[in-house]
Amino acid sequence: MSGWRIPSVLQQAKILLSERLSAGSIAVDATVGNGYDTLFLAECVGETGHVYGFDIQKQALTSAEARLSEAGLLSRVTFFHTGHERWVELLPPDLRRQIQAVTFNLGYLPGGDKAVVTRPETTLQALQAAFDWLAPGGIITAVLYSGHPGGKQEAERVLAWAGGLDQKQAQVLWYQFLNQKNQPPTLLAVSRHS
Ligand SMILES: C[S@@+](CC[C@H](N)C(=O)[O-])C[C@H]1O[C@@H](n2cnc3c(N)ncnc32)[C@H](O)[C@@H]1O
Repeated sequence: MSGWRIPSVLQQAKILLSERLSAGSIAVDATVGNGYDTLFLAECVGETGHVYGFDIQKQALTSAEARLSEAGLLSRVTFFHTGHERWVELLPPDLRRQIQAVTFNLGYLPGGDKAVVTRPETTLQALQAAFDWLAPGGIITAVLYSGHPGGKQEAERVLAWAGGLDQKQAQVLWYQFLNQKNQPPTLLAVSRHS
């Protein structure tokens, strides 16, 4: 019997992100957390690329910094200790329409305070900024969780936003397993044509 499995939500996000990233690319991790995705993006963009990361929790950024530092890749990342909704204010303006990949992993920090979660209003603000700043052919991935308080409402708002994007401008994919128990995460991907 083959051990092959359909890629999990997190694996599929990485597949989509890595397809758009190469040496010299610019990427954003909108929810750094413990830095696993930031590290992955930093590997994908190579020595000449750069990753920008946001998180509102110092504890998360400390953990992420340690992870990047251990991998010798800290110089490829700029962290902002603030909300991703401040995107337009903080990212260098010359990066507008130059960003190849943006990742969001919503909800709470694993191992952290479960009351500190991403919120629909600020998430939508950041998603719109991400879309506006994507390079032609760029992609946004967002892992959505429904299991925690407010998660389902946030996921619904995000899906409604993405579903409203014009198909002439973007492809919108929603990837999910229908027979898994306990409200598993789902993956939204938005790819901008031009
Ligand atoms: C599910 S975790 C991210 C996990 C991360 N991708 C990893 O690899 O460990 C969600 C993170 O979003 C952060 N967060 C919550 N609101 C935010 C906001 N407005 N802007 C940026 N980050 C936020 C939380 O502090 C938390 O660390």
